[in-house]
Formats: sequence, structure tokens, C-alpha cells
Amino acid sequence: MVPRPLSFQNLAVTLACLAPCVSAAAAVECLQAEPDAAPGSFYKNTSYCPAARAENLLPLLTWQEKVGQMGGLRQLLQANLTYNATNADIILQTQSGTLSYGSQLNPATDVLAYANEARMQHMNVSLVPLITVTDSVNGIYVTGGTLFPATLSLAATFNVPYYANVVAAIRDENVALGTRWVLSPELDIPKDPRYGRVGETYGEDPFLVTAFGKQYVRTMQARDANGYIHVGCTIKHYVYGNPTDGINTASQYGGINHLYNDQLMPFIEIIRDTDPLSIMISYATIDNVPMSVNTYMLQNVLRDKLGFRGLVMSDAGAIVNLHTQSHVASSPAEAALRAVRAGMQNELSPGQPAAFPNLVNYVNESDVAQLVNEAALRMLEIKFATGTFDEPLPTQENLAKTLRAAEHLVVNRNVSREAIVLLTNNNNTLPLSQSSQKKVAVLGPFANIINAGTYAPQVSTNRSFGHSLVQALQAQFGASNVLYEPGVDFVDTTNDTGIASAVAAAREAGLAIVSLGSLAVYGQDPLAAKRTDGEFAAHADLGFPGLQQDLLDAVLAAGVPTVLVVNGGQAFSLSNNTIDGCGAILHAFLGGEYSADAVVEILVGTVNPSGKLPVSMPAATGATPAVYNYLASDAVAEYSFPSRPRAVPMPFGYGLSYTAFAYSEATLVSSLTTTGEPAVNVSVTVSNTGGMDGKEVVQVYLHQEYSLIELPVKRLVAVDKVDIAAGAQQTVTFTLPVASLGYYLNGEWIRETANYTFMVGSSSRDVDLTSLSMVL
Ligand SMILES: *[C@@H]1O[C@H](CO)[C@@H](O)[C@H](O)[C@H]1NC(C)=O
Ligand SMILES: *[C@@H]1O[C@H](CO)[C@@H](O)[C@H](O)[C@H]1NC(C)=O
Ligand SMILES: *[C@@H]1O[C@H](CO)[C@@H](O)[C@H](O)[C@H]1NC(C)=O
Ligand SMILES: *[C@@H]1O[C@H](CO)[C@@H](O)[C@H](O)[C@H]1NC(C)=O
Ligand SMILES: *[C@@H]1O[C@H](CO)[C@@H](O)[C@H](O)[C@H]1NC(C)=O
Ligand SMILES: *[C@@H]1O[C@H](CO)[C@@H](O)[C@H](O)[C@H]1NC(C)=O
Ligand SMILES: *[C@@H]1O[C@H](CO)[C@@H](O)[C@H](O)[C@H]1NC(C)=O
Ligand SMILES: *[C@@H]1O[C@H](CO)[C@@H](O)[C@H](O)[C@H]1NC(C)=O
Ligand SMILES: *[C@@H]1O[C@H](CO)[C@@H](O)[C@H](O)[C@H]1NC(C)=O
Ligand SMILES: *[C@@H]1O[C@H](CO)[C@@H](O)[C@H](O)[C@H]1NC(C)=O
Ligand SMILES: *[C@@H]1O[C@H](CO)[C@@H](O)[C@H](O)[C@H]1NC(C)=O
Ligand SMILES: *[C@@H]1O[C@H](CO)[C@@H](O)[C@H](O)[C@H]1NC(C)=O
Repeated sequence: MVPRPLSFQNLAVTLACLAPCVSAAAAVECLQAEPDAAPGSFYKNTSYCPAARAENLLPLLTWQEKVGQMGGLRQLLQANLTYNATNADIILQTQSGTLSYGSQLNPATDVLAYANEARMQHMNVSLVPLITVTDSVNGIYVTGGTLFPATLSLAATFNVPYYANVVAAIRDENVALGTRWVLSPELDIPKDPRYGRVGETYGEDPFLVTAFGKQYVRTMQARDANGYIHVGCTIKHYVYGNPTDGINTASQYGGINHLYNDQLMPFIEIIRDTDPLSIMISYATIDNVPMSVNTYMLQNVLRDKLGFRGLVMSDAGAIVNLHTQSHVASSPAEAALRAVRAGMQNELSPGQPAAFPNLVNYVNESDVAQLVNEAALRMLEIKFATGTFDEPLPTQENLAKTLRAAEHLVVNRNVSREAIVLLTNNNNTLPLSQSSQKKVAVLGPFANIINAGTYAPQVSTNRSFGHSLVQALQAQFGASNVLYEPGVDFVDTTNDTGIASAVAAAREAGLAIVSLGSLAVYGQDPLAAKRTDGEFAAHADLGFPGLQQDLLDAVLAAGVPTVLVVNGGQAFSLSNNTIDGCGAILHAFLGGEYSADAVVEILVGTVNPSGKLPVSMPAATGATPAVYNYLASDAVAEYSFPSRPRAVPMPFGYGLSYTAFAYSEATLVSSLTTTGEPAVNVSVTVSNTGGMDGKEVVQVYLHQEYSLIELPVKRLVAVDKVDIAAGAQQTVTFTLPVASLGYYLNGEWIRETANYTFMVGSSSRDVDLTSLSMVL
């Protein structure tokens, strides 16, 4: 996997043909409209292109129906399948584009029955069917599907090719439920570890985020047998990741060079290469302008520069926020007008009242009428492209066959094994000697739940499937050999009475597995009040909440060998006592149904860990941003503040294995790409010199010696995960186009002749890399 040149050459082709070649870009044969076709004459004819059908249908819609396409019913069902028909009827009058399921805890089979009824009823009163759009992070939006680990965990695999299998499974489960459009992938580049939503992202590095995000969109938006897009994607959040204090919806800083080289990078490439159907605009205020009214970012950059031609959607409640939070509009109606004039085309509004229904009153404002027509067209096009007008409603039979299909579970089990990072392994504590280890104590508040993230459709304490760590250890060692004591609560800072019995259990077993972390669960979860991670849960401190550290310190003080299992969609700042005292530390991030089983397989050595950190782990809460790709100016140490490498002892790309990989001297030669462009080949031979088969993530970082603006001290430009048997070796060659070695200067891609250093190795730490330089 290597980057492609970030020139706008491909983009020029896209821009040159706009609407007429949408379907050409999508590689599906279809008919364009005849110039004299009568309105409504062929929109039902599947031989025509989605855009042509949309244009043909639009004149048949009333003004209110057009405005209606700009919103939808976000809460079909409340908890326990509560359906309010009156409420649905009221909302659908002016928000009739989409239908979303509401409470995440309702079972998929029941949800399908209600959703199909609503879909059918709507067809009786409208020419335009409802389309379902939902978040899709660990899997489908409601319960009953395969529960994968959350996005950050999947990023920790660094296995972009295998990720296609995960996305295909999630895609097929979505289609079976009738979800043909998702509010994913999330392309944020979070640099502030206090941000609560890091677990929803692919981590801090633009190259890795782009690679995973592109794989997601390509796989989701693949065509079905009839040529329809399986599931349309909404890339989000344009742009986001560093809100002030890590607070969701807060403002963020960042000038044009920062935006282009960092936060915009995944959007630029994914729009260019995959044509996502929609984009979600972030809550952020950038340079004092809320993104939902940021004409510069929405028009000049997104449309003109990036060539995005899909639908532009708000984040949930963001248009109303313009009035209530940002105070840049004196009423919801003014907020709607400002937003639509800036380029917003769809409002996500779980709460009511929404802002866009106010647009029904502005039919006589000709610019608004034009913008509403365009917004409705984009929505109709998505519906035609995904088969919403043509394909039959999803069936219970297919749902039963597809959800939790055997192959999906195998993929989940496989990917879960690669999603855990071994951070330390003092004195080769792991893997445990299975013959001598008969009994284990499992301690900590996370030991008996699944901490799967904000958008995971499950109850952390009462699962219909999936194992907690306690259950997984019981399966391995036998129930009577597993001593379970939570010891302390997730967040409580007053009750330490459980610590003594936890230490006693550790002493009795002779080995403690301590499961600590930061809780990220859904809003209706019984533990929701104890959340410290996830959307709307920024964390000011990067240690473990409550008395969790006290529990760990007490177990370490007792001298019992200890393995720490860290949970949460975030980086933590581990104390020296933790790092030095624990026999081993694993970061399990946000688990799915097999994550605890995978932890146990790693503990006993039937699985060799191969995950790498997708976010850097800072030495101190104050040492933020804690990223590996800082600027040279940021490396300066001050009196009481450690220099960057010391401030981030476990950076991006870091992670241990049970075997040893030796890297040969790398080589660097001039070459050509398959299309004849100048390139360099970076080659290295990796040998498995240890005693166990294993997977290694080979990483290439780049540094340009002198440049017109300050560039990162290193940035990832290529990565490959290889599977090497004990005693075997493998040569990995990356062909990097010279044109891809540049950067953005004031919004333009440039590449200077310069001295480039390529660093090859197993992590972004200097000690793990060897360097080669070439003037290019
Ligand atoms: C669709 O349009 C094509 C081209 O005009 C025509 O040949 C075909 O018969 C139409 N199909 C239907 C089902 O009307
Ligand atoms: C409804 O569901 C919630 C969980 O989502 C549960 O706590 C509550 O007890 C349920 N209420 C009823 C009446 O079943
Ligand atoms: C149903 O929705 C209507 C309109 O929003 C509301 O007035 C009514 O109270 C709701 N009924 C119930 C049982 O929640
Ligand atoms: C749609 O309308 C037909 C004819 O009035 C009626 O028989 C049918 O029950 C309606 N379907 C739904 C789902 O409301
Ligand atoms: C739009 O203009 C028409 C014709 O002047 C008028 O009848 C109608 O009330 C106006 N609509 C609105 C919402 O102002
Ligand atoms: C799962 O992993 C096993 C072991 O590596 C492999 O043999 C199998 O093909 C994988 N299955 C899938 C569906 O990826
Ligand atoms: C736990 O989940 C099961 C179904 O998975 C349900 O029947 C049961 O009522 C739930 N128990 C509680 C206490 O929520
Ligand atoms: C304090 O923690 C212990 C051990 O977990 C528990 O048994 C006890 O109920 C807790 N006390 C209070 C007041 O919550
Ligand atoms: C933790 O250990 C590091 C590395 O040995 C050392 O530089 C640092 O001063 C220690 N921090 C504290 C708070 O003792
Ligand atoms: C590792 O071994 C050394 C030497 O036996 C010992 O001093 C140290 O405490 C051990 N560390 C851990 C974490 O077990
Ligand atoms: C560069 O690597 C590619 C892919 O492995 C290979 O086809 C090509 O021959 C190499 N070029 C040179 C000059 O070694
Ligand atoms: C290129 O940069 C590297 C790393 O800074 C340095 O060691 C090397 O001498 C430089 N080469 C040239 C030709 O300046």
C-alpha cells in the first residue's frame, strides 16, 4: 500500500464533466435524458442514470416535498419498541427524506418490521420512498448483528487489506436491514487525546486514516448484482478532530497549511478516488466561523477545490446550534437560511423542532428555491443510485440468514486477534506458561463488561452474545480457577473497601489480570452515568478515572505478577509505577464480542500480538498534543518539560510481538511506477528470528530536510503487514511516486527538489527505524 500522487490531475477530469459523467465515474452503463423528455416520463425506468431520473422526477414534487427531502424522521422507535404514529406523521410532513431507527437497543428483527411498515405507508402518500441512514461503527445500528471492535481497534490492526472483509460483513448486514446509507467513515485526525471521540476514528495519522477510510468507502459503495450501490457513505466530519479542550461541538484552531496537510488530507484523497455519496459537516467553528455557515470551506474548498459533488449534510442538531449555541443566527429560521445559502443540503435532527422545515416559507426567494431544488436532486440521486426506488423491501428471511452469518463471525474473530497492542512485556512475562499457571485472579471494573464504544448497539452489562474477560478466562482456565473481584468502581473516588479482597485474590492465584480503563457506552446503557469516554465525554485527565490506579498500585505493591489490560477509545498516560511494575501491558481499546477471547489467546500465547498503536501514548496529561508527527519547533525541551520523544515514550506505530523481527539494511533506488512516473523503491528484508510465527507491520516514514514551510519531523508514507513464519524472511518493496513526496502550500500541492530521508522499521520511534537519504 503506497500513496498516490496528490496532484489535482484526476480531479480536473472529474470537474470537467460534472453531472453528465457521474454514472461514467461509477462505471455503470445507463442512459442520459433525452433533451425533450417530459417531466415524470421516465424516472421509474431503471435503464436511465440516477442523476437523469432525479431530474425527471423533481418537477413532480411540491415545494414542501422538496424541502422534506432535506430532512427526515430520525427516531422511528424509542426504547422498548415504543412507536408514536402521531409524532411520526407530524415530522414526516416536512422532513420526509430519511427514516432512521431511533433507539439502538431494539432488536433488528422487530425494527425491520416497523421500518418496513413505515416504508410501505410512505409509498402510499409520496412519489419518493424513504431511505434509511444510520451510524455504523461496530456494525449495524441496532442489536442482533455481528459486534465488531470499534474503529480505533480496527485501525490498530494496521491491516487495511483485511479490513475489506470487516466492512463487507457490516455492509451486508446493513443491506439486510434495509440500511442503504451510513454516516461513516469518520476521517477525523484527532491530535488532542482529551477528545472523547478518538475511539470512533482511525487514529492520529493522515496516511493511515486515508487508507482505512478509502477501503471503507470502496467496499461499502461497491455495486450489487443489479448495478446499485450497496450502501452509500457519508464521509465525516468535514473537518474536525481538535476541538478546544477535546469538547465535542467546540471550536478549533488551524490555518490553511495545517488544514490541507493534516485534517483535509483524507477528504481530498477519498473524494478524488471513491466518489462518496455524501459528506457530514463538523460541529466545529474554524477561524471563528461555524462550519455549517462556512462558505469558504463549503464552497471554495469542498466544491471548487476538492470537486465534491455529493450531498452536504449537517451533524445532528448543528443547524439549530447556529442559533442556540454559536449565536450567529437570531432564530432557527435565520439559521436555516444562512446554512442553506452557505451550501448545506440536509439537516440531521434527532431532536425537534428542526430548522430546515422553516424553508417552506421561502419559496419566493429565488436563490433559496434554486438551492432547495439542488438539495432535493442530490437526495433523489442517492435514492436512485442505491436502488431505493427499484429494489424490493428487505425480508425477515434474508435478515435471519445475514445477521451474524458464520463467515462474519470468523472475520470478526480473526480481526479481533490483530486489534490488541502489546505495550510492554517485562522479563517475557507473556505468554503465560500454561503448564504452571493453573489459577488467575481477574480484577478491575472492566473485567466483566464489554466496553465497545458510543455507537455499539449492546448493553455493556447484559449481552446476548460475546464474552467479557471474566467469561473468556473461565472458558480457558475453568470457572473454579478464575477469582473475580472488581475491587473498585469505574469512576467512584470514595469507596476503596473492595481493594483488600482484590489483593487477597491476587495473592491466592499468584497472578493478577487487571482490567482498567475509560468507559465508553451508549446513552441508554445502565452504566451511561459513569461514562468518561466517547461522544460528549471529553477527559481532562489521561490517567484511569476513579480509584482504578489505587487498585493497580495495591496489587503491584503486594508483589503479585500482574498483567494490565487497558480499555478505552483513547490514549492513556501510564505512570512509571505502572510501566515498570506490571509484567505486561495490553491495550485492548474498544472491544467487540471476541475481544476478550483474543486477549486470553494472547495471554496464553495461542495468538501472537500484532497490533500497533494508532494513537500515541503521552507520558503526561500536559504533554499534548501527543502525536509522533510534530513539527521540529515542537521538539524543543523546556526547563520542566521533557522533549518530544521522551514526552511520548509509546508513539504511533509502536507495539510488541512475542517473536523477534530483524530488519536488513534498507535499500533506496530510483524506479518508475507502473504508469511510468518517476518513483523510488524502498526495500527491506524482514526476518522472523524468534521462535514463533508472527505478523509484522513494516512502516516507512519520510522527512524532507529543508522546505518552504515547517513539515513534520517524520510522516508515514507506506505500510505493509506481513505474516512471517519463525525462521523465515520476507522482502518488502514499496514503490513511492516522487510526486507523492510533496505537501500543500496555501492549498496547492508542491514538490520541491530536496534531500529526502526515508525511515524504515517497526514503529515511529527513532530506535526502531533505519534511515536512508536521497536528493530527489
Ligand atoms: C426504458 O427506456 C428505454 C429507452 O427509452 C426503453 O427502451 C425501455 O423500453 C424502457 N423500459 C421500460 C420498462 O419502460
Ligand atoms: C425500557 O428499556 C430500558 C432500557 O433501554 C429499560 O431500562 C427500561 O426498564 C425499559 N422499560 C420498560 C417499561 O420495559
Ligand atoms: C406522540 O407524539 C405527539 C406529537 O409529538 C405528542 O404530543 C404525544 O405526547 C406523543 N405521545 C406519546 C404517548 O408519547
Ligand atoms: C396503502 O394503500 C392501500 C390502498 O388504500 C391500502 O390497501 C394499504 O393498506 C396501504 N398500505 C399501507 C402500508 O398503509
Ligand atoms: C409566494 O408568492 C405568491 C405569489 O405572489 C404568494 O401567493 C405566496 O403567498 C407567496 N408565498 C410565500 C410563502 O410567501
Ligand atoms: C481467519 O484466520 C485463519 C487463520 O489465520 C485463516 O486460515 C482464515 O482463512 C481466516 N478466515 C477468514 C474468513 O478471513
Ligand atoms: C438481558 O438480556 C436478555 C436478552 O438478551 C433479556 O431477556 C433480559 O431481560 C435482560 N436483562 C436485564 C436485566 O436487562
Ligand atoms: C463499596 O465497594 C464494595 C466492594 O466493591 C461493595 O461491596 C460495597 O457495596 C460498596 N459500598 C458502597 C457504599 O457502594
Ligand atoms: C518516569 O520515568 C522516566 C524514564 O525513566 C523518567 O525520565 C521520568 O522522570 C519518570 N517520571 C517520574 C514522574 O518519576
Ligand atoms: C524483571 O526481572 C528483574 C530481575 O529478576 C526484577 O528485578 C524485576 O522486578 C522484574 N520485573 C517485573 C515487572 O517483573
Ligand atoms: C521497484 O519495485 C517494483 C515493485 O516491486 C518492481 O517492479 C521494480 O522493478 C522495482 N524497480 C527497480 C528499479 O528495482
Ligand atoms: C540528507 O539528510 C540526511 C539526514 O539529515 C543527512 O544525513 C545527509 O547528509 C543529507 N544529505 C545531503 C546530500 O545533504
